[in-house]
Amino acid sequence: MNYTETGVLEANQIKIKNHLTDLGIDNIRKEIITGLTSKHKHISSKFFYDDLGSKLFEDITKLPEYYPTRTEKSILNKIAPILMNDLEKTDLVELGSGDCSKIKILLNSIQKENLKTINYIPVDVSLSAINDSAQELTDLFPDLSINGIVADFINQLDLIPAERKRMFFFLGSTIGNFTEDISANFLKNLSDNMNSGDTFILGADLVKSSTVLHEAYNDAQGITADFNKNILNVINNLIESDFNISDFEHKAFFNEEKSRIEMHLIAKEDLQIKSPYHHDDIYIKKGENIHTENSYKFSMKRIKELEEITGLKINQIYTDNNNWFALILFEK
Ligand code: SAH
Ligand code: TRP
Repeated sequence: MNYTETGVLEANQIKIKNHLTDLGIDNIRKEIITGLTSKHKHISSKFFYDDLGSKLFEDITKLPEYYPTRTEKSILNKIAPILMNDLEKTDLVELGSGDCSKIKILLNSIQKENLKTINYIPVDVSLSAINDSAQELTDLFPDLSINGIVADFINQLDLIPAERKRMFFFLGSTIGNFTEDISANFLKNLSDNMNSGDTFILGADLVKSSTVLHEAYNDAQGITADFNKNILNVINNLIESDFNISDFEHKAFFNEEKSRIEMHLIAKEDLQIKSPYHHDDIYIKKGENIHTENSYKFSMKRIKELEEITGLKINQIYTDNNNWFALILFEK
């Protein structure tokens, strides 16, 4: 498992190193148990992404109801030639890279002779996601070097090499999955970590009709429900607990006041969960929620406030024709 087994994978142009073990499995278990024994139970969304979770997320991105991926990709297709024009000797750092299908769009717009001078640095908690996509990318771009970092981007940003010019990417509206405090801290850290001349491209989902939002997180095939429930399997592996996913229902709704989709797991019965890492059982009442995810939806006003939060300058905001999604180009 990524949190307990160290390792480096190396082959031709690819190097992938796992740094998650540096976080300490005891701290990870403590974090999980603190969340599950709080008044309002919660689990951090980084635990969605084991091998199966990463695959289920990839399936979500292809659902007809899940508009963010195809909308963001349509903007990337439009701006790739502008962003990548004459780009050379740069590290492309992608935080939460997932299946790397978005960076592929950008790499396709880099002049072939320049590709040799580009280094791609995917950073993700999912080793399998980085590994699978690195293989695919080297098949497509044999000259590209890839330096994968399996790490938590909240706590381990300083692992990212800083010797060369860097272009950071944080796509898929993953920024919306943080609380406002964590999001502000994360952006501030990233901006402190950047050198003058580095750029940062942030993908943010925009406020829109609550029906469109609701359907995107309650798809007809129930893949989002499977993805949400799978977090309990990941937790079972990490704290050796005995959650049974069939004891829970998926619930996702748009909280208009907070401008966010909230995702919960609702217990169908009174439950008593055991883990050798907690002295007592974890009690969950019938109808009680475990909060697993937020997905904040941004207004233009909120996006402009990010200049102040980050201390970075917004150079451009790119959107699609419906104004459903925004890509923000910051520079330091
Ligand atoms: N960028 C991709 C994937 C978005 S899903 C896209 O736009 O489609 C979020 C990604 O971030 C997943 O691949 C997940 O494994 C990763 N992730 C979530 N929390 C993380 C954390 N704390 N540190 C590093 N990666 C994380
Ligand atoms: N960043 C994605 C989003 O906010 C994450 C996501 C999409 C997600 N669908 C999900 C997280 C379903 C949990 C459950 O849209």
